[in-house]
Amino acid sequence: MKTYIIGNWKMNFTVGESSLFLHKLLQRVRSYRDIEVVVSPSLMALQSLSLQTDRRKIKLATQNFYHRDFGAFTGEVSIAQLRSLVDYAIVGHSERRYIFNESDKDIRAKVAAALRNGLTPILCIGETDSERTFGETADVLRDQLLGGLSEVSAEEVSKCIIAYEPVWAISGHDKAAKVASPLDVKDAFALIRKILKETYGKETAEDTPLLFGGSVKSINAESYLLLEDCNGLLIGGASLIASEFTDIIEIAKRVKDANAQH
Ligand code: 13P
Repeated sequence: MKTYIIGNWKMNFTVGESSLFLHKLLQRVRSYRDIEVVVSPSLMALQSLSLQTDRRKIKLATQNFYHRDFGAFTGEVSIAQLRSLVDYAIVGHSERRYIFNESDKDIRAKVAAALRNGLTPILCIGETDSERTFGETADVLRDQLLGGLSEVSAEEVSKCIIAYEPVWAISGHDKAAKVASPLDVKDAFALIRKILKETYGKETAEDTPLLFGGSVKSINAESYLLLEDCNGLLIGGASLIASEFTDIIEIAKRVKDANAQH
C-alpha cells in the first residue's frame, strides 16, 4: 500500500498565493511511486490548481462539497461539479462537525457521493478532549467510523481512507492543543482496524488506509509513520510551510524504504 501525505490547507491562502505555493511545492517535491502526495486548497483555488498541478507529483482534494449532484441548492458546490478537478474528498473533518454542525447523516451521504462520483473519500474521525477524559474514545470512534461508512457497500470500504484526527491534538483553534503520543495513535489505529475487521472482514480491514492527523510536523512525523498500522499523515499547519511539507514527504519515503528492507 502507498503512504499518503496529505496537506489540508484549510481556509488559508488567496487563489494567487495558492498558485505560488503549489509552484514552490512542484519544484521541490520528488515523485515516488509508493508515496501519494495530495494537497487540499480552498474550493476557490481548485479550478486553477487542477490545471497547474502535475498529478503524477501532487494530486488535489476538496475540503468540502454538498452530497447531491445537481439541483436547487443555493450556494453549494457538488462533488459532480468537482470530480474532474480532484481525486480525493475530505469528509467529516472535526471543524465541519463542530463549527458547521455536520451530522453523521450528512457525513455518510458525502462519503457515498464521493464514491458514486469516482473519488476517494478521506473520512476523518476522532474524539474530543472531554470524550477522551470520560473514557468515551472507543465508542466515539466506532460511531463515527460505522456511521460514516453506513451507506457504503462492504466491497467499497477499502476504497475509502480513514484519518484518525483526535480533536484535542488539532492545532489552530485550541491554543492548548496537545501532541498525541505514538502510543495514543497506535491504540486508536488498533481499535479502528479491529472494528473494520469485525464488520467487513480481515481483507478489507487490512486494505483500508489509516492516516493520522493532529499537530504533525517534520519533528514528529517519523514517530507516527513508524507505527505498523500507519499508512500516512493528514497535515494542517505544517502543510502551509513548503520546507516542512517536503521534509515530511522525504521522511515518509525513508520509512517506506526501511520497512521494505525488513
Ligand atoms: P494541524 O496539523 O494544524 O493540527 O491540523 C490537522 C488537521 O486538522 C488536518 O486535517
